[in-house]
Amino acid sequence: MKHGRIAGWGKYVPKKVLTNSDLERLVDTSDEWIVTRTGIRERRIAGEGETTMTMSVAAARQALDRAGLRASELDLIIVATSSPDYMLPPVSSMIQDRLGAQCGAFSLVAGCTGFVYGLATAQQFIASGAYQNVLVIGAEIISRNIDWTDRNTCVLFGDAAGAVVVQASDTPTGVLSFRLGSDGSGAEHLMVHGGGVVMPMSQRVVDERAHYIRMNGREVFKFATRVLARAALEAVEGAGLAMDDVDLLIPHQANLRIIEVAARQLGLPMDKVFVNLERYGNTSAASIPVALVEAIEQGRITENSTVVMVGFGAGLTWASAVVKMGALDRPRYALWRSIPGRARARARVAMRTLSMRAGALLLPLYARVTRR
Ligand code: UT7
Repeated sequence: MKHGRIAGWGKYVPKKVLTNSDLERLVDTSDEWIVTRTGIRERRIAGEGETTMTMSVAAARQALDRAGLRASELDLIIVATSSPDYMLPPVSSMIQDRLGAQCGAFSLVAGCTGFVYGLATAQQFIASGAYQNVLVIGAEIISRNIDWTDRNTCVLFGDAAGAVVVQASDTPTGVLSFRLGSDGSGAEHLMVHGGGVVMPMSQRVVDERAHYIRMNGREVFKFATRVLARAALEAVEGAGLAMDDVDLLIPHQANLRIIEVAARQLGLPMDKVFVNLERYGNTSAASIPVALVEAIEQGRITENSTVVMVGFGAGLTWASAVVKMGALDRPRYALWRSIPGRARARARVAMRTLSMRAGALLLPLYARVTRR
C-alpha cells in the first residue's frame, strides 16, 4: 500500500489587518471582551480583487514549489471551502485552470472541518494506487458572508488559504489514521439560511439579512468541547499510538478557550499545541492548513514529527487525523543540501566559474548569429 506523504505546504493571507480596536468602531464590543472570550487580537480581510480562487492559487503555488512539482503533474485537486467564488462553477475547477493543471478537481463542503476531510480523502486516492499527487486546499473568504452589524459573529472570523501536496510514498508517512464525524441534528447552530434551495436568493433574503452566517456560539462551544478531544484521541489510538507519542496538536483555530479545554482533556501541555488564532481569528477550512504551514516554518514540526489535526464546525461536523511528517526538504534540493557545507561552497564557486567561461565562449557565437 502506498502512503500519502505531505510533500509540499503553502499559505496565503491577505495583507489587510482588522484589529479588535477597529471592530470597537463597528459594533458594541471591546478588545478586552474579544481577547478574554476568544484569544483573537486581529484577523486578515481579503481586499478588492482577492477571491477564494486567487488566494487558493497563491497557497497552492507555494505548496507545489516546496514539493518540487509542476501543476501539470497533479492528479487531483480537492478544495475545502464554504465560501466559493460562485454558486456554480465549483471554485475547484477555476483553481485547476488558473494553476494550469490537467486533472480532476472538486470542492468539498464540511464547514471548518473541510480540510481534514480533504486530507483523508486524498490519502484514499493515494493508498488505492489510483493517484500519485493530490493537492488539498482549505480556503475561505468568510468576511464577505459576515453581517458586520452582528457582534456575535463579526469579531470571530478572518480570511486565508492553506494548501498541501500529498504525494505517494513507500515509507509509512502522511495520514496514519483519521476519524470523520457528523451530527446534523445541530445544524441550526451554525447556518446561512438564505441563498439555498429552501430560501432562494430574493429581496426578502436581503431584507432579513438571511444571506449572512448566524451562529449560536454557546451551543457550538459546548459541541466543540464535547468532540474535539475525543476525536483527537480516537485518531491517535487508531494509529496504534498514545498521546505521549504526539509531538504537536493542531486544532481548528476558533477559540483559545476551546483549545485549552481540549488540551486539558487530552493531558497535553500547551507547548505541544499550536495556536495562531490571535493573528488570524477563525479562518474556517483554512485554519488547520495555515497553522500546519506556520508550525513547519517555525520549526515546531520537523522531520518525523507526529502531528494530530482536529477540527469542528458547521454541519455540525468534526474530523481528526494523525499525520507523520516525512522529509521536509524540497526533493530537488535535498541532494544538494546533503553535501557538507565546505564542499557545497567549493561546488558553487566551480559552477559559477564554469558558467562564466561558457558565457565567454558563447557570447561571440551569439553576436555572430544575431548580426546576420
Ligand atoms: O468554527 C466553528 C465556529 N464557531 C465557533 O467556534 C464558536 C464557538 N463559540 C464561541 O467561541 C463562544 O461561544 C463565543 C466567543 C462566540 C461567545 O463566547 P461566550 O463566552 O460563549 O459568550 P456568550 O455567547 O455566552 O455571551 C456572553 C455575553 C452575551 O451578553 P448577555 O446576553 O450575557 O448580556 C453576549 O450578548 O457576551 C455578549 N457578546 C458580546 N459582548 C461584547 C457576544 N458577542 C459579543 C461581543 N462583544 N463581540
